[in-house]
Amino acid sequence: MCGFLFMKGKEKMKIGILGTGIVGKTLAVKLNELGNEVMIGTRNVSETMAKMDKDMMGGSPFKEWHSNNPKIKLGTFADSAQSGEIIILATHGVITTRVIDSAGKNNFKGKVVIDTTNPLDFSQGMPPKFAATLGNSLGEQIQKHIPEAKVVKAFNTVNAYVMISPKREEGDPDFFVAGNDEDAKKKVKSLAEQMGWQRIIDLGDISHSYWLEALTMFWVNYGFKNNNWSHAFKLLIK
Ligand SMILES: NC(=O)c1ccc[n+]([C@@H]2O[C@H](COP(=O)([O-])OP(=O)(O)OC[C@H]3O[C@@H](n4cnc5c(N)ncnc54)[C@H](OP(=O)(O)O)[C@@H]3O)[C@@H](O)[C@H]2O)c1
Repeated sequence: MCGFLFMKGKEKMKIGILGTGIVGKTLAVKLNELGNEVMIGTRNVSETMAKMDKDMMGGSPFKEWHSNNPKIKLGTFADSAQSGEIIILATHGVITTRVIDSAGKNNFKGKVVIDTTNPLDFSQGMPPKFAATLGNSLGEQIQKHIPEAKVVKAFNTVNAYVMISPKREEGDPDFFVAGNDEDAKKKVKSLAEQMGWQRIIDLGDISHSYWLEALTMFWVNYGFKNNNWSHAFKLLIK
């Protein structure tokens, strides 16, 4: 069955988001508002629904968030990966390949997989350390782990709220992508444009996800030094 829905001339999609943190929830709400069918995935549905703690930005516990967003379906990582024509990875970075295993590698075959994750090691406290090395970025590890998927690194260098509302008084930041498949990058660019991103900069193949992950370390270090978390990057190009 053709899974694409068409509304008002724009391609609407089934999107599976793996991750119930601030990134997963924020992208889920926006993509749903844009008319897509969204399922958000977690390790254990009943445990996630029973969580009473607020999220890292002080937002309501998951159950309350979900009841405020009833159109967004909730399932396991496997349910969500299976349901998505496009899959978004929004899990704690360093365990992402394990999440993919638990979601079932077959569910990623041939699909566009948007990797928002960052290789941050929190084991020695704050600020987190960089857990990637050249040639072994998280984006590359993920692409190697699911070679038949089309992995696109994107969204990882801004905070979750800027992801879905990039426009700002001081100028629009740039949206950076890296990935091996040109059509997959086109799909991600189209989603980003629907969210308000003005200029998309394609860095090249998935090996360039290393630079996007390193750029996040710049972002993290600036954030800790200045206690500012809404900063974003723009390339000045003549
Ligand atoms: N926060 C931001 O503004 C921001 C901005 C750019 C990029 N990023 C990147 O986006 C990703 C998501 O960030 P986030 O802040 O939304 O959430 P997060 O707290 O980094 O991750 C939450 C998700 O990771 C899963 N998870 C955590 N530990 C796990 C484990 N041991 N095994 C399996 N799953 C596990 C959780 O599963 P359950 O659902 O089961 O709890 C949850 O779905 C991260 O890689 C982060 O670096 C974050």
